[in-house]
Amino acid sequence: MCGVVGYTGINQAAPWLLDGLQTLEYRGYDSAGIQVVSPSGNLHGVKCAGRVATLRERAASANPVGTCGIGHTRWATHGAPTDRNAHPHLDGTGRIAVVHNGIIENFQELRRELMAAGHTFASDTDTEVIPHLIQEALDGPAKGDLALAVRNAADRLEGSWALGVICADFPGTLVCTRNGSPLVVATTEDGAYAASDVMPLASVTSHVLQLNDYDVATLRADGSIEIRDRNWRPVESPSSFDIDWDASAAKMGGYSDFMAKEIGEQPEAIERLLAGRLGEHGIELDELSLSREELAAIDKIVIIACGTSYHVGLVAKTAIERWAKVPVDVEYASEFNYNEDYLVTDHTMCLVITQSGETADTLSAARRMRGMGCNVFAITNVLGSTAAREADGALYIQAGPEIAVASTKAYTAQMVASYLLALRLALANGKMTLAEVQKHFHEFEQLPDLMREVLSRRWQDKQAAARFRDKTSSLFLGRNVSATTAYEGALKLKEISYLHAEAYPSGEMKHGPISLIESGFPVVAVVPADHVHDKTVSNIQECLARGAVVVAVATDGDEKVAKMCQEVLWIPQCPDQLLVPAISVIHLQMLARYVARDRGYDVDKPRNLAKSVTVE
Ligand code: M6R
Repeated sequence: MCGVVGYTGINQAAPWLLDGLQTLEYRGYDSAGIQVVSPSGNLHGVKCAGRVATLRERAASANPVGTCGIGHTRWATHGAPTDRNAHPHLDGTGRIAVVHNGIIENFQELRRELMAAGHTFASDTDTEVIPHLIQEALDGPAKGDLALAVRNAADRLEGSWALGVICADFPGTLVCTRNGSPLVVATTEDGAYAASDVMPLASVTSHVLQLNDYDVATLRADGSIEIRDRNWRPVESPSSFDIDWDASAAKMGGYSDFMAKEIGEQPEAIERLLAGRLGEHGIELDELSLSREELAAIDKIVIIACGTSYHVGLVAKTAIERWAKVPVDVEYASEFNYNEDYLVTDHTMCLVITQSGETADTLSAARRMRGMGCNVFAITNVLGSTAAREADGALYIQAGPEIAVASTKAYTAQMVASYLLALRLALANGKMTLAEVQKHFHEFEQLPDLMREVLSRRWQDKQAAARFRDKTSSLFLGRNVSATTAYEGALKLKEISYLHAEAYPSGEMKHGPISLIESGFPVVAVVPADHVHDKTVSNIQECLARGAVVVAVATDGDEKVAKMCQEVLWIPQCPDQLLVPAISVIHLQMLARYVARDRGYDVDKPRNLAKSVTVE
């Protein structure tokens, strides 16, 4: 939520700041701005409501000149998405400019205090107090030291922040700090860079440094970066990592949108994830950092996640309980955080599932679980993310950058990662033999080709999408793991097409949602060939009897469903029922995308949303 970039060096700052913001736009896209400082100390900024494309047009005519600068793309929290609320925000003297990702919880008290001291404000944001606090510090106790002034100002803040700060009195100096919101920095021959995540940095470096909470980094035009910790001690060896994908992975390639690209990348993502995972002694998951004995002792697992990752958790629960026979709870992080009565055993393991590794609710819940004495293990896509750094072990799904706000390839890759964990546990606690583990693993290896087959049938989704034209509501149904596919399909549809989609386990439909159904009402039924097939078929009959138009996801050769339903999205036969959720969902991802495109929406940047939800 909100993207922050910064640069100081030998080049003009504006071009890279704008490119960087474009790359970070998935973090928020309701307004954007940049501010640069020239070597002679002139600040020049451009900002506006709307997308980075609009900012580019404004910047082209304003031509801000300066080799040091900051930029921001916003997801509004305090104040509407307007020109005046767009970042950067300035202090009262117009010398200090700040970009901020996060929420300042005590901004009202600070604002009142600053106003009483004569400061005036130009926006409705929580952020604007920050440049004013820096100004107070620079005019007082931190005179002549921008980094110290930023530290002093940050000491007054409550909440979360990643900040980029420039000042007309210190041309060529960029100061950054963070608490709770992500921020990485990098040094290159052309200068030093900062960004909310590695995405914009991949075009200039493959090596990034991580800041810890409360670290203050001073970036200089010669590319040097000085980091001080909360106690103002120099950080000699900051943690760092290499970006493990090529900058081209964050580009659209030949696709018309990132969502189409990411849906299409699922087979390769699964291949990467599985490569080298089956060893002589079973599933190789060294990242777990748990011995076989420790794994065998686990008597309860709590999965914590949000949104699409929560749906992964529901499927993971089935796999872990079926294969490892360990009971699993799946909790929405935002709910778990306020459940004061949650009970753990002496051997409860916490598994957080988070694509970004930065979801604020998930991070808080993981910290709470650790506080309750549990080992925390993360399944995530983003190397060096906060969830991974704070966990006892992290399994990277290696799906490559996921840029479309609607999560697709991370869903299936996280699901398969959780299956690997389930097999590892099952072998460790003796619920499965090595031969059984190997058999399952070889079945997983068939997934990429099964996915390719579903992808080749996208014309079926395109055709079915027409059934949603002019509709305002829909119902998604399925049983057992297919209920989860229904939840995920409905989430995808409402997220990007703004069409109401209710998802229910099929058997629950008669307890209420059936009253929604009338002539022409679209129902999506996930009804693969499994032990509950005939039960779901009966539910489809109930929908049809009331005039519904049914789009079914069914297994090749299912004549019964073919005869009943108006549209069928066909999936190939699978060697294991637990592979079905990973392929049937692909139809629903593509269906949602076609419906949204039919309606003329930007599928990558749906309204009101942001890719990485870094506020609670
Ligand atoms: O990065 P995370 O997996 O923690 O994100 C969790 C949700 O915010 C995310 O899955 C969201 O629901 C997606 N936009 C759904 O497509």
